[in-house]
Amino acid sequence: MSGIVILGTQWGDEGKGKVTDFIAQKADMVVRYQGGNNAGHSINIDGKKYALNLIPSGVFSPKIKNVIANGVVLNPFALVEEIEKLTKQGVKDFQLYISDRAHVVMPYHIELDKLEEEYRGARKIGTTKKGIGPCYSDKHSRTGIRVIDLYDDKLLKGLISDNLMIKNLIFKHFGKPEMKVDKVFAEMKKIRTKIQKYVTDTSVLVDDYLAKNKKVLFEGAQGALLCIDHGTYPFVTSSSPTSSYAPVGVGISTKYIDKTLGIVKAYSTRVGTGGFPTELLDDVRLQNYIRETGREFGTVTGRPRRIGWFDAVLIKHTKRISGLTDLSITLLDVLTGIKTLKICTHYTLDGKKIEHIPASEKDFLRVKPVYKTVPGWTEDITKVKSFKDLPKNAQNYVKAIEKEVGVKVSMFSVGPDRKQTIEINKLF
Ligand code: GDP
Ligand code: IMO
Ligand code: MG
Repeated sequence: MSGIVILGTQWGDEGKGKVTDFIAQKADMVVRYQGGNNAGHSINIDGKKYALNLIPSGVFSPKIKNVIANGVVLNPFALVEEIEKLTKQGVKDFQLYISDRAHVVMPYHIELDKLEEEYRGARKIGTTKKGIGPCYSDKHSRTGIRVIDLYDDKLLKGLISDNLMIKNLIFKHFGKPEMKVDKVFAEMKKIRTKIQKYVTDTSVLVDDYLAKNKKVLFEGAQGALLCIDHGTYPFVTSSSPTSSYAPVGVGISTKYIDKTLGIVKAYSTRVGTGGFPTELLDDVRLQNYIRETGREFGTVTGRPRRIGWFDAVLIKHTKRISGLTDLSITLLDVLTGIKTLKICTHYTLDGKKIEHIPASEKDFLRVKPVYKTVPGWTEDITKVKSFKDLPKNAQNYVKAIEKEVGVKVSMFSVGPDRKQTIEINKLF
């Protein structure tokens, strides 16, 4: 068995790209199974920085097959741009495959995403405005356009026309420019040729690799708390980043999911709207310190990320819905120099102890986090090579997380570079 799901356990940006790239050095294939170019995965190799949105984090080795599977929503314009950017950075010889069943993010999805945010007013989600929600909506209403449909002129034009019939009514109603069928059709015809060589039935490809016992990584985007079903609805994304979704988003048997590695930031961050019980609202100085030290600004939108203490309730929620077998703690170095660290163990709501995330966002905004405190450390940990090299207090912080969550910590990282990643238990 050889399939590992790498999953964000919080609200995204836990360091999935970095961990995927690290483990990918021993893998044969990396597969993205959901989300789109709302994802921003940063990878630092020998002082060079890369940011990936749609392309899986296995592209840095020419031996690895990288797959964008059916569960992803694909913006072909963004993909071509990303390929060009990587090429300019010297990353050229990668193997890329795109599912013929993936849904296409169309230009009107992006305009709709912006418009929906505008008319949501105070209830706005704070989306990345990449058209992700409207594209998944069309997929589920069965009016979507799949990659394969791009190559059938008659079908493509018909689908664009059907979609614009409705969407233009909405644009018109809100005083936005309408879109012309012929123009959108021409744009799609132009871009489709640039991605055609990558298009294939990726379910067959991945299944074949798994059947041959090859090492396959499934790279989640976003985080479990942004899951459309199990996240902090409605302030979520429109797909399911959970490990349970990986087989659906790829088209493989559940029997191939061997391990689920939950990526956990050593503290909490969130971009966009929504409840955040451990947010450091009353300590702006510490919030700014962590934001600057951890460079907590969105990879996709550049927005400053909201910062809070580590919240075990969130990770236990993810453990329940996704069955975590291992944890990887990232950004541990960012906490160096903070005198006392806090770990939220549970909440209270109206004076009663609660250990789960309430379904109602109103209640989630009212919960009060209950903390245990752990002494911090001052030693520079950015060069440590093993768990025992960590100062005692940093070891205790890792152990406290392990104990609260009830899942073994198999990796940790002490800096953005590939080399600053330490494996405690071998994943492959
Ligand atoms: P992803 O979306 O889960 O792939 O995470 P992002 O790349 O959006 O955000 C994680 C950020 O933390 C990036 O800027 C990484 O370079 C950085 N990073 C990852 N691991 C570490 C770490 O251990 N220490 C520090 N200081 N930065 C890290
Ligand atoms: P990675 O893969 C952090 C957030 C947005 C917004 C909500 C819905 O880098 O961890 P969407 O554009 O998906 O409709 O926005 O989800 N969001 C992310 N937050 N990391 C991400 O991806 C995110 N992708 C979406 O900020 O709150
Ligand atoms: Mg990110």
